[in-house]
Amino acid sequence: MRTDTPQTIYRKDYTPPSYWVDTVEMGFDLDPEATHVATRMTLRRNPDSPNRNLVLVGESLRLEQLRMNGKDLSKRQYALGRGTLEIFNPPDNVTLEIETVTHPAMNTSLMGLYVSNGNFFTQCEAEGFRKITYFPDRPDVMAKYTVMLRADKEKYPVLLSNGNLIEQGDIGDGRHYAVWEDPFKKPSYLFALVAGKLVCQEETYTLKSGREVLLQVWVEDGNLDKTQHAMDSLKNSIRWDEERFGLELDLDRFMIVAVSDFNMGAMENKGLNIFNTKFVLANPRIATDTDYAGIESVVGHEYFHNWTGNRVTCRDWFQLSLKEGLTVFRDQEFSADLIGTDSGRAVKRIEDVRVLRQAQFPEDAGPMAHPVRPDSYVEINNFYTVTIYEKGAEVVRMYQTLLGRDGFRKGMDLYFERHDGQAVECDDFRAAMADANGRDLKQFELWYSQAGTPRLKVDTEYDADAQTYAVTLTQSCPPTPGQAEKQPFHIPVAIGLLDARGKDMPLRLEGEQQDEAPATMVLELTEATQTFRFKQVTERPVPSVLRGFSAPVVLDIAYTDDELAFLMANDSDAFNRWEAGQRLAMRRMLALTGAVQNNQALSDAELEEGTLNDAFRAALNDEALDPAFRELALTLPSETVVAEQMDVIDPHAIHAVRRFLRRSLASSLRGDWMVAYQANRTPGTYSPDAIAAGKRALKNLALSYIVENDDADAHHLAQTQYDNANNMTDRIAALTALANSSAPGRADALNSFYEEFEQEALVVDKWFALQAMSRTTDVAAVRALMKHPAFTLKNPNRARSLIFSFCNGNPSQFHAVDGSGYQFWAEQVIALNAINPQVAARLARTLDRWRKYAPALQEKMHAALKKVAATKELSKDVLEVITKSIS
Ligand code: PHE
Ligand code: ZN
Repeated sequence: MRTDTPQTIYRKDYTPPSYWVDTVEMGFDLDPEATHVATRMTLRRNPDSPNRNLVLVGESLRLEQLRMNGKDLSKRQYALGRGTLEIFNPPDNVTLEIETVTHPAMNTSLMGLYVSNGNFFTQCEAEGFRKITYFPDRPDVMAKYTVMLRADKEKYPVLLSNGNLIEQGDIGDGRHYAVWEDPFKKPSYLFALVAGKLVCQEETYTLKSGREVLLQVWVEDGNLDKTQHAMDSLKNSIRWDEERFGLELDLDRFMIVAVSDFNMGAMENKGLNIFNTKFVLANPRIATDTDYAGIESVVGHEYFHNWTGNRVTCRDWFQLSLKEGLTVFRDQEFSADLIGTDSGRAVKRIEDVRVLRQAQFPEDAGPMAHPVRPDSYVEINNFYTVTIYEKGAEVVRMYQTLLGRDGFRKGMDLYFERHDGQAVECDDFRAAMADANGRDLKQFELWYSQAGTPRLKVDTEYDADAQTYAVTLTQSCPPTPGQAEKQPFHIPVAIGLLDARGKDMPLRLEGEQQDEAPATMVLELTEATQTFRFKQVTERPVPSVLRGFSAPVVLDIAYTDDELAFLMANDSDAFNRWEAGQRLAMRRMLALTGAVQNNQALSDAELEEGTLNDAFRAALNDEALDPAFRELALTLPSETVVAEQMDVIDPHAIHAVRRFLRRSLASSLRGDWMVAYQANRTPGTYSPDAIAAGKRALKNLALSYIVENDDADAHHLAQTQYDNANNMTDRIAALTALANSSAPGRADALNSFYEEFEQEALVVDKWFALQAMSRTTDVAAVRALMKHPAFTLKNPNRARSLIFSFCNGNPSQFHAVDGSGYQFWAEQVIALNAINPQVAARLARTLDRWRKYAPALQEKMHAALKKVAATKELSKDVLEVITKSIS
């Protein structure tokens, strides 16, 4: 909590640290009420720093002792300020001994050392280590750590930290100890310890080199039947990084620990990854296909950080995307490679782009818009964003698109050759990519420095006489906070041309020497406008632009409905097939939204003869397409994605239209949905593999459409599936369908589900979430759910399951015209602020886009924002978000 005005930190103000730390030895006497931490570190003056004083930072600490080179420091030798400990003009070589006390049981922020279900955990990224001891807590200070943990043996039988276990034993009084040594230098944000009653699944695994390593997945007692998928995912990750990037696990032991109180998804602490239980625990009874896929990608993500993040880390937090963008790209590629098939890869790509559009595009167009490498921040925790992560991954992907897979690998190799063991900048990564490939990537820097989603306009002209086809690409980028004018980006535009039969035409560019005429070509747009002229084009083609979503831009291209249906049916690029269907649907949804706003009645008949209906029917019945792909193709753009297309967002009109369209498609294609439902059952033993999961996805989409009809047959179908399901995917899909219907069994199903899974926290989260997002759940219903004994704001997963799901996932109810949703939001932000500022600040982001709504709603949102702003003791996390939203 703060009382002063929070400071803005600027990238341009970076200065190297005045001292380097070589070694850190720590002793912990673990006690939930008061943990004593004794730290001894050796430091060395940095000749490149202009500063003479040594500045350490600390937060919520009691300082018990401070000694330098064996002597107590006198009061004149140091100053203990607000969050800092400054030692005046120390000698060149220093040994510091510091004793601090922290209070883990009272720590609800879940940063630093805290207690969850009676066990100890740490979270140090980004700036949590300073809640453990005074330290130069910045990522460019890398040191070797040795850690001794001491605790009551009965209460805390397991004592873990980074690296290798060196020694353990008893120390009398029912206490024991363990000593851990991490052989690698690391920044303080990668420090971790875990202590408590935990059990593990373990395996030895043989690396390609023949070396054996110990793999462990630690969980609370009773959860060992839920660790196999995480273990399998870990082994797959290790193998994949060896094969695709030649990167080997550098430790003899690698541990994953699950904790139920966690702010984020997981954390890549060296050798001791700490995970939200959501991304570890799975068995068919409690986890959905989506959960299984999430576990695989997060286990991969954290494992891949061992090289991209840990061995090579960030110089400062402005470079966060150096590790996060790259590691998200790596985990995306990992999941795609594991599926293996071309269509599976396309499905993964579509899912990733959907996330980008749903969350990152709005961020890039709102008050919190920032470049992939930000220039300033108030609270770094607010910058763990979809821009840093997902747009950052798109930026990394563009290198691969421009340089090819092999060129990208060369760049990666050079990056590690140059920077292993260092703390570096995004520019160093770009330089490695450029130098390894003899390419000039100067202009590419703009992807790191300019915020906002570029627009790419496409104009075409066919000259039948000359048999040429001219494609003119024009780029622009809207202004974002602090950046009014933008320079043109270096944009890779993958393109293909379809002939009248829907086949790819061979591509030959005028003025280029080409050995072959490929079906897809990557055009490099570097200016505001450029024309690319294809030759020997024998008929007027239909262009397929931005194949595979080759750049994170908004594509502005004029297609007729028929052309879109044609692309949806024929494009050899699966991403663009999906994209064409989405465009067709979006066009229809926007038109209908306009009609609703003009009080026109929506008529089914009109739709049933439309192109959209035909195109959807064709996709649904196309047996040649993967079920997983069909599910994506037949899912209408979300309410949020539609909202982003409107100048003035009308959440109620959008909701009415999406519902109307779903009902129309439900009734006009009812027979087809039923066929798809039956054809995609997955009887027998459950497996989360991509084929089976794809079938379930399509079958459950079919169910959701069928239940739109809200009649007895549909209710019966959902109820039967609910009663007979042998896995959570089918269970929750049926329950969701029932919850959104007027089925007589609705309430019973909800109650029995809770009773059955009361002991499974992750399933109780699902139970809250599905109700929060149900069509009929209004603010009053959410308030009632908050009174349920299983609800608590203190557990982030639980808070997210009910509060966030409602505020972000149920737009038509949240935006109730009386403003009651906004008042509710303000209350929860304020309540969370006192418990956990990071989680509170995430919820605070919900009203980011308030200026996009109609004046009546805007006014009520503004009032709610002002209510939060006026709250005393606002954390700087929440204050930054609210201030940027209002200003
Ligand atoms: N570095 C973590 C990841 O992306 C995310 C994280 C950030 C976790 C801050 C906790 C705290 O893998
Ligand atoms: Zn990460």
